[in-house]
Amino acid sequence: MSKILVTGGTGYIGSHTCVELLNAGYEIVVIDNFCNSSPKSAARVKKITGKDFKVCECDIRDKDGLKKVFEAEKPDAVIHFAGLKAVGESCVKPLEYYENNIWGTVALLEVMRDCGCKRIVFSSSATVYGSENKVPFVETMPVGTATNPYGTTKIYIENILQDLYKADNEWSIELLRYFNPIGAHPSGQIGENPNGIPNNLMPYIAQVAVGKREMLSVYGNDYPTPDGTGVRDYIHVVDLAVGHIKAVTRALGKTGVDIYNLGTGIGYSVLDIVNTFMEVNKINIPYKIVDRRPGDIAECYANADKAKEELGWVAALNLADMCRDTWNWQKNNPNGYDD
Ligand code: NAD
Ligand code: UD1
Repeated sequence: MSKILVTGGTGYIGSHTCVELLNAGYEIVVIDNFCNSSPKSAARVKKITGKDFKVCECDIRDKDGLKKVFEAEKPDAVIHFAGLKAVGESCVKPLEYYENNIWGTVALLEVMRDCGCKRIVFSSSATVYGSENKVPFVETMPVGTATNPYGTTKIYIENILQDLYKADNEWSIELLRYFNPIGAHPSGQIGENPNGIPNNLMPYIAQVAVGKREMLSVYGNDYPTPDGTGVRDYIHVVDLAVGHIKAVTRALGKTGVDIYNLGTGIGYSVLDIVNTFMEVNKINIPYKIVDRRPGDIAECYANADKAKEELGWVAALNLADMCRDTWNWQKNNPNGYDD
């Protein structure tokens, strides 16, 4: 079976993808610098799967360190999650975001090329559609303009990868545009573990539920949506992880660049999420309506047909599953991976 190197493999989406890779029979090796994760997540992945793998503490900007890992492990393909992802922080520290995400990816690609490993699955985002395109977002639409440096890094990296294939058609590149990943592994062993005040909706709701935050602020109820609150395409992180198995399997069998939306194709409003969370978990979530958050768009959801047709992938879990599994993780791990 092929060996997959997972950058950022102890993070939220990476850890769930490691579980699915191991369950599918792949060998894996993880690299991470733990700037936004805990090595404990890897121990939990081993517990869930009953399988062992190597975790290397390594920064993707450290080419010498990367080279040692590639030479020792000889991976067949890379799934590249490592990157900084906080939208607000990227506006305050744009250089850190460009340096870590873009330079880090270029360093990784150089080492991959030099070691003859030319298959990569990259974590892109629906944010690349910008505000110019109309929902549902389809892969054939032109990329839009990001409203923040984080989003810009995703657009640049997509371009870099496309240029790389144009220059050398031995590469196999899968660009996966995630919509809004939420939820956690049903075991309750791994999940999202944000530092400080969560920026995203579901982690904030989970912290209100567990008593860490008093009340959710709903950012605007005057959008042109059915109930006036923002609409997003929430996708269970386990479904998202399974999408990576399909993508990496495809990458191992062909060359070229593919772009896939990974979403459910269904848009839910902020109040849909709050109400479903309360109903499924029988917990009250106090909330208040406040002003819109700058940079937010009214609606964002996928046309998910291409992933279904070409990868044979569809999201199988619904919003109730996402709310149940988020709470199962949060209530069993109120402080994340910290004991
Ligand atoms: P995460 O922060 O939990 O995981 C990212 C991992 O990368 C962390 O473990 C972090 O320690 C590691 N990392 C960061 N910089 C590194 C570096 N220079 N060298 C080595 N390791 C480094 O985030 P996530 O939610 O799991 O996201 C994974 C990827 O998916 C990111 O690229 C993110 O931008 C992208 N993405 C996430 C979302 C989302 O909503 N979570 C949406 C779209 C795209
Ligand atoms: C945000 C990022 C996006 C990133 C995505 C996934 C912004 C502007 N966009 O998208 O680039 O790819 O996360 O990480 O930050 N909401 C509230 N109260 C809250 C939090 C959110 O009402 O406390 C609302 C938002 O206004 C939005 C919805 O909930 O309508 C979802 O928000 P969020 O989880 O932050 O995701 P996105 O805005 O889609």
